[in-house]
Amino acid sequence: MTADNMTADTDIEMNNNMALTLEPDKDQHDFTLDYIFENLTQLPTFPKAVQKAMELLNNPNTTTKHLVDVLKFDPAITTNVLRLTNSARFGLAQKVTNLETALSLLGRNQLKEILMASGSIPYISRELYGYCMRPEDLWHHSMATAICADILSKYINFEEPTTLFTAALLHDIGKIVLNLYVGGNLEKILELATKEGYSFTEAEWMVLGGDHAVIGSEIMNQWDFPEDIIKAIRNHHDPDLYIQDRLSSMLALSNILVIIMGIGVGADGFRYWINPELLDALKITRNDIYEVMFETYKEFINSKDALMLYKDNN
Ligand SMILES: [Fe+2]
Ligand SMILES: [Fe+2]
Repeated sequence: MTADNMTADTDIEMNNNMALTLEPDKDQHDFTLDYIFENLTQLPTFPKAVQKAMELLNNPNTTTKHLVDVLKFDPAITTNVLRLTNSARFGLAQKVTNLETALSLLGRNQLKEILMASGSIPYISRELYGYCMRPEDLWHHSMATAICADILSKYINFEEPTTLFTAALLHDIGKIVLNLYVGGNLEKILELATKEGYSFTEAEWMVLGGDHAVIGSEIMNQWDFPEDIIKAIRNHHDPDLYIQDRLSSMLALSNILVIIMGIGVGADGFRYWINPELLDALKITRNDIYEVMFETYKEFINSKDALMLYKDNN
């Protein structure tokens, strides 16, 4: 299979003229992780304006003007920032109509969360045929995981809540690529997961030779995200790995809880369970878990306007 026989119908058009072009191997004759990794170089990069603004936010001397100067030339990001700032999730008392006011009213952590969400929507508001997911499903699942991660952070005084929020938002990014390959193999994967008791991720490995966590971490690597986020995304379905550091454990638990709640899950839903070692590692009780789930669900429902943003980013 060569780049020469790539066809237009396999292009995934993304907003801001971003295009993800990968050729699915419909016959599954020569599917390899190497092939996918080679073709990942064609992925559009994560919005530079957001990455630059995130860097600026790590400097205590950064002013609102610096941030406005970086963001104002990206209209799609500006629109998303304003809509998220006015959403119930971020709850400002006044309606904000320009970037400068929005950036000056938000706290740094809120600002980081809004920027990451604004930059991520175009990637995670996609229909994933291979996973039987509608365009809103991955966005809802990702937002719910990020909300759950925030709530969990408060429960255990997690030291890096915004890093966790970013990892939670983008943890399933590999699905947009692997989706192209799951298609014809979905039945085989489902059979392994439903009749033979494997998790969906184990079944992905058995049939496809890789899973969306591995691919997702490679995407994050190419986008120059920090090493701890790349690692947490790589680890989020692997019990031997996610138990080894707190960021990975927090991400894995947030994801599992949101799957158990059935938010934005597709063909791989309802096939995950809570690993007791995860609760021990984070020193969190089952009672705490029930409360975290309850609060996540409440906040998810309250975030309706932010959840609708997928419509404008398709
Ligand atoms: Fe996942
Ligand atoms: Fe997930």
